[in-house]
Parts: sequence; C-alpha cells; structure tokens
Amino acid sequence: MSSYYYTTPIFYTNDSPHIGHTYSTILCDFFARYTSLCNEECIWSTGTDEHGQKIADSAIKKNKQCIEYVDEISKQFFSMGKKFNISNNIFTRTTSKEHFKTVKKIWQTLEQNNFTYKGKYCGWYAVRDEAFYNDSEIKDGVVIATGAEVSWVEEDTYFFKLSSLTDQLLEFYEKNPNFIYPQTRYNEVKSFIKEGLKDISVSRKRVSWGIPVPNDDVQTIYVWLDALSSYLTSLEFTNNNSNLYEKFWSSNESKKIHIIGKDILRFHAIYWPAFLMAANLSLPNHLIVHGWWTNDGEKISKSLGNVIDPIKLADEFSVEYVRYFLLREMNIGNDGDFNKKIFIQKINSELADNIGNLIQRVLVMIHKNDINFEDIVFDKNLLDDAYNIVSEAKHIIKKYNPPQYIECIITIASMANSYINKKEPWSLAKNKKIDELSEVLISVTELIRIIAIMLIPVIPDSAKKITQILQIEEDLCNMNCLSYHYAVHKKPLQSLGVIFPKIQ
Ligand code: MSP
Repeated sequence: MSSYYYTTPIFYTNDSPHIGHTYSTILCDFFARYTSLCNEECIWSTGTDEHGQKIADSAIKKNKQCIEYVDEISKQFFSMGKKFNISNNIFTRTTSKEHFKTVKKIWQTLEQNNFTYKGKYCGWYAVRDEAFYNDSEIKDGVVIATGAEVSWVEEDTYFFKLSSLTDQLLEFYEKNPNFIYPQTRYNEVKSFIKEGLKDISVSRKRVSWGIPVPNDDVQTIYVWLDALSSYLTSLEFTNNNSNLYEKFWSSNESKKIHIIGKDILRFHAIYWPAFLMAANLSLPNHLIVHGWWTNDGEKISKSLGNVIDPIKLADEFSVEYVRYFLLREMNIGNDGDFNKKIFIQKINSELADNIGNLIQRVLVMIHKNDINFEDIVFDKNLLDDAYNIVSEAKHIIKKYNPPQYIECIITIASMANSYINKKEPWSLAKNKKIDELSEVLISVTELIRIIAIMLIPVIPDSAKKITQILQIEEDLCNMNCLSYHYAVHKKPLQSLGVIFPKIQ
C-alpha cells in the first residue's frame, strides 16, 4: 500500500490570500480527499513562506516588525483554509523553530557533500519573484516571463553546484517521463536542463530577514532553499521520534506529489530535485502544475484593482459553490477564467437543475409512493452504464483532471434524469405498476449514491448531506464501494430541504 503526501506551495506572507492561493489549496484538498476516498493512506500539508526581502519590504511599508506582520498574514492563510473546509493535516510556517532546524540540517549536508562554495554574485535579482535572472531573461528592466522588476546585485554569496548535477537531472527526467503533469511542462523543463545549468547563488548578504547560514551569520540562506525545505519540515524531518518523514518521504512506498502554479516550476522541477540529490535524499514523484486564474479575461493584479478576495466570494455564494466552480472550470494545463455570469450559469445548471433537482424529485416520489426498499430490483443496464462511467472517472484522476472527473458526475446525473423522463414513473404510479415503479426509483437512487460519493472530494459538505439522506454508513463512503455489491439497500430519508439552492 502506498503512503501519499500532497503539498500546496507555501504562500508568501507579503499580502492577504487571493483566489489563486485558494485554488492551489482546494486542488490539493481535492486530490488528497480523493486519495483517502480510495482507502489509501494520505496526508497533506500547506503553510506560509515568511522570509526574504519581499516580505521584509512589505512589513516596513506597513510600519510593522517583520514577525508581527507575518504572524498576522499567516493567520489569514490558515483561516482561509479553514473557511474552505480543507482537510489538511499539517500547516507549516517557515518562521517555526522546527523549520530552522530542517534548513540548517540541509545546508550542512550540502556543505559536507561539497556542493557549496563561496564566491561573488553579480547579476539581476527580482525581489517580487525572489529569483536571480540571466541577461537573456530581462528586457527593459523587467523579467520577460513574469514582468517583475529587477535590480543589479553584486555581493559575496554561497553558490550551489547546480551545474555539476546537469547529467544526473537529465537522467532522472529520462527515467521519469511522468514526473511532471502536464507533459508540455515536462518537455519545457527537460529542454531547459539540456541547455546546461549554471551554479546558483543560495545565500543573500544584504537580506537579514531569514535563516542565517550556519557559522556565517552575515549571510542569510536564499529564501527558495528555505521555502522548499518546508516540505520536509512538514514531515518532522529532524525529529528522531517521528516516523512521518520515513513513511511519507524516504520509503519506497511513499508517493510525494507537489501541487504548484506554473510560475514556480523551475524551482520545483530543477532546484528542488537538485538540492535533494546533493543531500542524498529521495526525490518527489510528481509535480502537478496548474495555470493561472484571470478575472473576466484579464490578468489579476493589484495595480489593476481586480484581485478576487476568496473570503468575500464564499460569503456571497457559499464555500461549496466556489469550490465546485474552481475545480470544474480550470483544466490544469491551461489558465482558467473567473467570470461571474459563467459561475452562476454553471452552478445553476449543473448543481441546482441537474443534480439537485434529480435528488429532490426522486425522494419525493419514493416517499409519496411508499417505495419498499426491502425487495430490491435494479435496472441492470442503467447501473452498468453508470459503473462504466465510474471506471472512466478513476482513469481520469490518474491524469489529474478534476473538470473531467466532475463531468463524469454530471453525466451520471443527466443519465438518471433522462431515464426518469423516459420511464415516466408518475404514469407507472397512476397505473399502479408498483414493481416497475420501484425498479425505476431504486435504480435511480443507486445513481444518486454514486454521485454523492464521487462528490465528496469536490464539495464535501453537500456530499455528506446526500450520503446522510441515503443512510450510507461512513465506512462505505468510498470509491471502492461503487459496484453492485454495495448498491443502495436502505430507504432514503425524506429530503431535509434544498441541497443546491439556485443563485438568483
Ligand atoms: N512562496 C512561493 C512558493 C514556495 S513553495 C516552496 C510562492 N508563493 S505565492 O504566494 O506567490 O504563490 C503560491 C501559489 O499561488 C503558486 O502556486 C502560484 O502559482 C499560485 N498563484 C498565485 N496567483 C495565481 C493566480 N492568479 N491563479 C492561480 N494560481 C496563482 O510562489
């Protein structure tokens, strides 16, 4: 059995959470909940990235001490996760004592393994990206790819011998063609490595807000080495009494999956594996790289004033609807657009009209006609079709495609609605064809059971309401129970009100 470990990026505490952060978080929650729904062992972590010049500058602007400032913003990220009903086990902050220990240990290992050396860095640095850039990546004082402003830096530094790992990284990429999803990103990284890698600077002299280099505290460890190491802090890397690290990172059974946005690919696809190789530690198994959200087709940015506040959005439309839309709308390989009109249309047509209406009308008919759930007969054809779609959905998840997974759920609901329209249970009732009527309604109830269980990773609260109405025991709420053997066998309760109210 595998032990799955998922992570979100840790979020910069220079500003409050926005919809992009919420998306990374919900996506991770979705995969982790799905994995648990398959009875696999799974933990997942999120947290905040609190060091570096960008954050120190923001604290100064607000007239606050760095620690006071990051405490405040880190809490906002923590509450955002709670608000969106995420099921994470771990929240890691880079200002924690445990994290300092992890980074120190990794630094010392890199040093002992002869992967660092002292030198002088002369080049471009973008504070917004906390990244060093080559001349070819800059135009008119900004980074071509990200638009971040750069400044010229000349300072003593410690370098990391990234160039010496070029061949080893390429070999790793050759052997692991599925390391990055989507494939286009994998190809992009591989060709980048092929061009040859340069050594990178892994300390800053003029930035004091961070973790000091062991035995040289005029230098501060580069914020990306600091931040990436948090994935190990989350597993209690330096705690000898804990087996989390062993179980979820270093063992052969562990499956380590980082969920990241496209802007931080290079750090996760090159630097992080290289640091781990140099420290003789295991490498992650997969990177899932998602695109960016735009607002009504426009890039989201503070200067345009179109940042979407996830908390306000959830207060206006409900957490469940926002979760649904974000997972439904963005194909991971592409960018996604947030458009209120489409949001309302999707929720109303797919949740309220399709699934919600289905449940409502089936429950009413079951109770009105006092359907007996003791002698159960199913329409085998209908159920077979639905179970086939379940198999398809399981396959789709292996390709990390939440929108298509949700599409499968919608297809099952549409199938159930068409079946009802074709069989006309109201006529069967009128003509007292009770056996046929029972078969139709019980079969459709089984489809609702499938829908409810499949919805758990998407909208856990609503899914739970439905499983409770259907009286499905908690330990049978999992993906392995979507077959005849576990098919519905209890009469559902009367509906407890509208599950998916329409947005007006
Ligand atoms: N602190 C680094 C990550 C360190 S991980 C070891 C960082 N933080 S961030 O707060 O800037 O971004 C965190 C995540 O939010 C990234 O995956 C980024 O892609 C994502 N998003 C930021 N804006 C976004 C959108 N507009 N849309 C979707 N996700 C975006 O990078």
